[in-house]
Amino acid sequence: MQCSPSLVGALSSVLVVLGLLILWLYGRTPTRYGKHAEAAAEKPLPQERRRHLPAKCAWFLQELPAFLVPAVLLALRNPPHFAPLGCRLLGGMFCGHYFHRTFIYSFLTRGRPFPLHTVLFGMLFCVYNGFLQGYYMVYCAEYPDDWCNDIRFTSGILLFLFGMGINIHSDFLLRKLRKPGELNYKIPQGGLFVYVSGANFFGEILEWFGYAIATWCLPAFAFALFTVCFVGPRAYHHHRYYLRKFTGYPRSRKALIPFIF
Ligand SMILES: NC(=O)c1ccc[n+]([C@@H]2O[C@H](COP(=O)([O-])OP(=O)(O)OC[C@H]3O[C@@H](n4cnc5c(N)ncnc54)[C@H](OP(=O)(O)O)[C@@H]3O)[C@@H](O)[C@H]2O)c1
Repeated sequence: MQCSPSLVGALSSVLVVLGLLILWLYGRTPTRYGKHAEAAAEKPLPQERRRHLPAKCAWFLQELPAFLVPAVLLALRNPPHFAPLGCRLLGGMFCGHYFHRTFIYSFLTRGRPFPLHTVLFGMLFCVYNGFLQGYYMVYCAEYPDDWCNDIRFTSGILLFLFGMGINIHSDFLLRKLRKPGELNYKIPQGGLFVYVSGANFFGEILEWFGYAIATWCLPAFAFALFTVCFVGPRAYHHHRYYLRKFTGYPRSRKALIPFIF
């Protein structure tokens, strides 16, 4: 396979447009899964959109392509060569995140069943984004020999690791709110939840901006922007949900960005 810069540009642009569309759509009404599926029950969906999968199965199927597609592209690289920095960044950061999401997060989750149509959208998205990030890093990325000493590389890696730490810890704190089999909602406590309702989403955003800065490429920035557009409104709607549901919800807590928003 050869690198096609126009393909990378086109796929990245579509990702940005999709993100902006999602921001526009879900800025007003929340994505219909988790706690917002409950609220949306007043406006029932058509029969074919009411099928659900258990959360563990849904997360596994949805996230698997984002790990598998770049891993296959890496394996099929001809001649096989893991040495270029782009390939190592892809393997370590992008595939590392999706390895965790697919093989660890999905087996630990205590979430409620997931709407089938959302799983299908998630799978398609992960194929698309997995291909874009993988194709770029395996076939197009070129870095100067001293990129590892570049401030963008070091600060990006640190931001990525910091964000991943926040994301995993926050998801752990949410999980701890429920005993196995429970599906009710409680006020999240501890960690960055002291400051924001969407601590896991804040971590996810830092992670992908860290990846974008370390790799300094269009597809990674497009994905970081997409992430803001997807999880940003989710954090905002979670925050409003908590304020409505819990009279004692901490008033100083923000939705997504500590002290700001
Ligand atoms: N990169 C991206 O574009 C992207 C997009 C979506 C998600 N993600 C990531 O995927 C992960 C999960 O996303 P999500 O949208 O499912 O997050 P979420 O709505 O915060 O839910 C995470 C888990 O915690 C449970 N939970 C949430 N609030 C709770 C509460 N107050 N009390 C008890 N349990 C609670 C949820 O159960 P229920 O399912 O029963 O609500 C779910 O199992 C996050 O780390 C997120 O950053 C990334």
